[in-house]
Amino acid sequence: MATLKLLQNKAQKEIKKAKDLKKLDQVFRKYLGKKGEINLMLKSLKKLPKKKKAKKGRELNLAKEFIEKEIEEKTKKIKEKLRTEILKKEKIDVTAPGKKISPGHLHPLTQVQRKVEEIFQSMGFSIIEGPEIETEWYNFDALNIPKDHPARDLWNTLWLKTNYKLKTNNYKLLLRTHTSPVQIRYMEKHNPPLRIIVPGRVFRHEATDASHEVNFYHIEGLMVDKNVSVANFKAIIQKFYQKFFERQIEIRLIPCYFPFTEPSFEVDITCLTCGGQGCPACQKTGWMEMMGAGMVHPQVFKNSGLNPKEWQGFAFGMGLDRLAMMKYKINDIRLFYSGDLRFLQQF
Ligand code: FA5
Repeated sequence: MATLKLLQNKAQKEIKKAKDLKKLDQVFRKYLGKKGEINLMLKSLKKLPKKKKAKKGRELNLAKEFIEKEIEEKTKKIKEKLRTEILKKEKIDVTAPGKKISPGHLHPLTQVQRKVEEIFQSMGFSIIEGPEIETEWYNFDALNIPKDHPARDLWNTLWLKTNYKLKTNNYKLLLRTHTSPVQIRYMEKHNPPLRIIVPGRVFRHEATDASHEVNFYHIEGLMVDKNVSVANFKAIIQKFYQKFFERQIEIRLIPCYFPFTEPSFEVDITCLTCGGQGCPACQKTGWMEMMGAGMVHPQVFKNSGLNPKEWQGFAFGMGLDRLAMMKYKINDIRLFYSGDLRFLQQF
C-alpha cells in the first residue's frame, strides 16, 4: 500500500511538472501505458492469494483512476493555455489597412494580337479561327504542297499518330505549322469578295533560339476580289505597320518561294530592337523577317472551289511574336513563354 501511495505521489509530481502535451504523454506511458508501472503491478496480482488479490486489485484501480484524472485535468489546462496563446498571436486588427491585391493583365502577345485585330478590322477585315490540329490535306496538299514535294521540308512538322477520313481519303493529322490552312477552309464556304485575318497558335519541330520557338503565333491574312494586286498588298501592309508602330516604318519585299502564292515574297522591316545596327534578335542583319506573302496561287483557288480566272487575291502570314519583339524591343522570343513575372509585369 505504501509503495502504491509513493508511486501515486511520484506520478502526481511529474504531471504537475509536465509543461506540454508531449511530456504529459511520456508520464502517461510510464504509469498507465501497456508496459507502465500500474499495468505491471496488475499483472503481478496473479501470484497473490485470492483475498489479497481482490484487495490489492481495488487499490491498484483507485490509483489508476487517480493518475488518469490528474492527467486529464493537466491536458485540459495545457490545451487551454495553447488556445489562449494562439488567440493572442492570431488576433485580427480590424482597424489595420487592407492588403492591396495587384490585378493581373493580359500577356504581351495577347495585347499585340488584339492591337493587330483592331487595325485590320478598321480596314474591313474579319477575324476568323481554325483548328490547331489539322489534316495533312489542309496544311499541305490543298496549299499546293503535295506529298514528296521538297517544299514540305520548309515546315518541320509535328505529326500525330492518328489518321482522319476527309472526303474519300485518309489523311494524317498534325499540329498545324501555319494558319494558312484556314484560307482553304474559309474559301470553301464563302464566296468572294473576302477580307480575313486568322490569328492562332502554330507548332514547328525545330531548335529554339532568340528568334525561333517551337510553339508561336501566326496571323494569316487573305484578301480576294476581282482586281487585287501586289500594290494593294504593299499599301495595306505599310498602313498596318504605320498604325501598329505609330510611326513610319521601312519595309522591303524580297522575292522568295511559297508553293501557295505566285509570285511570293518575304517582308522584312528594319530591326527596331537595334535600329538596324545588328543584334541577336535580327541575327546581326539589321532586318527582321516579319512575314511571308504573295498572290494566291491559281491551284489554291481551284482546291477551294473558286475559279482562278474570275478571282485574284493576296495572302500573307506574319509571326505575331516577332511583331511583339519589335514593338517592345525584346531581343529573345523565349522570354514570352518563360512565365517569368519580372518580365511579364513590365507590360
Ligand atoms: C509561312 O508559314 C507561310 N504560311 C506564310 C505565308 C502565308 C506565305 C500566306 C504566303 C502566303 P514562314 O514559315 O516564313 O511562312 O512563317 C511566317 C512568319 O512566321 C515568319 O516570317 C516569321 O516571322 C515567323 N516564324 C517562322 N518560324 C518561326 C519560329 N520558329 N518562331 C517564331 N516565329 C517564326
